[in-house]
Amino acid sequence: MLAIRPMLPSDFNEVAELIYLSTNSWYQQKLGHPIFSCEPQDCRLFCEVYEELDPGCGFVLAHEETGLIVGSCFYHPRETHVSLGIMNVHPNYFGHGIAGKILREIISYAEARDLPIRLISSALNLDSYSLYNRHGFSPANLYQDMIISVPREGLSDEPSYELPAVREAEPSDLLAMGQLEFEISGISREKDYCYFLENTSGNWRTVVSIDENGEAAGFLVSIDNPASRLIGPGVARNEKTMEALLRAQLNHFAGQTVVFLLPADAGGLIAAAYQIGARNCELHLTQVRGISQPVNGIVMPTFMPETA
Ligand SMILES: CC(C)(COP(=O)(O)OP(=O)(O)OC[C@H]1O[C@@H](n2cnc3c(N)ncnc32)[C@H](O)[C@@H]1OP(=O)(O)O)[C@@H](O)C(=O)NCCC(=O)NCCS
Repeated sequence: MLAIRPMLPSDFNEVAELIYLSTNSWYQQKLGHPIFSCEPQDCRLFCEVYEELDPGCGFVLAHEETGLIVGSCFYHPRETHVSLGIMNVHPNYFGHGIAGKILREIISYAEARDLPIRLISSALNLDSYSLYNRHGFSPANLYQDMIISVPREGLSDEPSYELPAVREAEPSDLLAMGQLEFEISGISREKDYCYFLENTSGNWRTVVSIDENGEAAGFLVSIDNPASRLIGPGVARNEKTMEALLRAQLNHFAGQTVVFLLPADAGGLIAAAYQIGARNCELHLTQVRGISQPVNGIVMPTFMPETA
């Protein structure tokens, strides 16, 4: 018999193995390549970051007799919504309704609080698309995952147009970051910004752009860890501001390969990314169950902490 229960810190090693095995098996089987090139235990990063942000907000589905965990997922309650984090099922159990059972638990949690659920799901993964879609989620925005190996000496090209100034974010930027994201995408998650700016692990970096009136015009976060080398989340009022923030982050990854998600309808920004040398590696969709407002600017989502 399989039973659902809250995830405990003592499960983290097993869940890290599950995240690695499940994700890599699915991608290897369906798309011919793995996602994680790190060690399986490096995927403890997801458990640790999520536990620091939202203690106890994970579920596992496990065999009652053996204790073996066959499914896991995290969720993140925020002021305006609940985000759903990485969902994984053991490959031996794909298609047996495991993810559906965990998802229904998180839906009950959100419904009891009258909050929408938001997540990012791969547009190349019909299993996850269908899972969420059958449970009442609708796709909202399309994003292009782009990958680039940044030269050791940093980006070589300079754009022919002027870009807004960018600087490292400071703790005093917290409020402005929150207000800006709320204005642009209608979501609020102060806890996440505090976490990025405190940066106790040293993995995170946040840059901001302040306009001539002294107001935040955009911010962009990145994480640099073997299990996750990603630029995002971030929002900006316009494409040029986001390009300035993206260039600043890319230079930080000099000599490394990094992934970032751009809105598919941000033509100028995507053209700039091609110009820099980025290539498409996947497509993702925002999926929302419940109400969401149209985006009023540029959003770069990410997977940890899941934004959408
Ligand atoms: C995506 C993943 C979590 C799905 O887990 P799972 O336990 O196999 O999924 P379930 O069996 O609970 O649910 C899949 C649902 O989609 C439905 N489905 C699958 N393919 C479908 C299709 N092409 N059209 C319509 N429905 C489809 C199934 O019928 C099922 O719905 P039902 O329970 O109402 O019958 C699993 O494949 C996995 O772990 N993949 C690797 C990691 C990953 O991609 N995670 C998702 C990140 S967001």
